[in-house]
Amino acid sequence: MMISAKMQKALNAQIGMEFAAALKYDAMAAHFEAEALPQAAKRFFRQAGEERTHAHKFLRYVLDAGGRVQIPEIPAPPHTYKSSEAAAQAALESEMAVTKSIHKLFDLAQAEKDHATAATLQWFITEQVEEISSADQFLRLVQRAGEKNILAVEDYLAETAEE
Ligand code: FEO
Repeated sequence: MMISAKMQKALNAQIGMEFAAALKYDAMAAHFEAEALPQAAKRFFRQAGEERTHAHKFLRYVLDAGGRVQIPEIPAPPHTYKSSEAAAQAALESEMAVTKSIHKLFDLAQAEKDHATAATLQWFITEQVEEISSADQFLRLVQRAGEKNILAVEDYLAETAEE
């Protein structure tokens, strides 16, 4: 095995964190759709898919490094939010927690002189810069529009949607 037992445990925990983020975003998307905000729902369903890709990237890495994958229990996500702003705030906080966790993994890789894991984590460190920026932008959009004018956010998301 190319990684330490401690690193394997930490990477497995990160796999759980990425799957937890996916569930959180799926639930958030469902919340937005139930609130008749289909563009916001689409944004979070897409984000949930990205989180699953992150989980699989970590999973693939553990396997490639000769480790054992042990997916931890994933907590149930919140299903409702008192406002769009509260949901957007929760999404940003989630990204910040994931970023902190990835930075801790990188610190561990450096402490263990585990260059392969450190190199793999570089991709995630860069990805998180974009993820935080996007979550922060969504929060500021929602705040600027306010709950009464939330359809302006829908219009903006429809205009700027990728695909
Ligand atoms: Fe996988 Fe949004 O961090």
